[in-house]
Amino acid sequence: MTVKYGEYLAGPVAHCMECHTPHGPQGPMLDTHLGAGGFVFNGPWGSTVAPNLTPHPEDGIADYTDEELKVMITQGVRPDGSHMTPPMPYAFLANMTAEDLDAVILYLRSLEPLPMPE
Ligand code: HEC
Repeated sequence: MTVKYGEYLAGPVAHCMECHTPHGPQGPMLDTHLGAGGFVFNGPWGSTVAPNLTPHPEDGIADYTDEELKVMITQGVRPDGSHMTPPMPYAFLANMTAEDLDAVILYLRSLEPLPMPE
């Protein structure tokens, strides 16, 4: 299990970073805002802001345990019991193997801690 493998899964395979990075005119700003969140999705359910997935202490995932992250990623349920709305694809992500999930979490924890964009 390596950060590199997690990066591959979170990138081209499961597209976590595309949704969880703010978008500019050229698409997701992966070079400068990787994982910072803030992209707004509008749909029939209302609008949802993609959360920050960096280890930022206030805005990011620093306070979640690995177990809490796993439940959020595969079941769409936060530690406070609240359920996520679309388009977070947790039903699809539930198919990830335990090892792949560990690699993704390892990778997220390796990201540069960035604040949520304004
Ligand atoms: C199609 C876009 C999309 C993709 C792909 C996606 N997410 Fe999400 N994710 C979201 C949105 C939007 C939310 C917020 C849902 C809500 O608040 O109801 C979310 C919520 C989360 C949360 C909860 C964070 C928090 O603090 O509440 C985590 C953790 C997360 N995603 C991790 C991931 C990981 C890891 C992957 C890839 C394996 C991934 N997401 C793929 C859009 C996406």
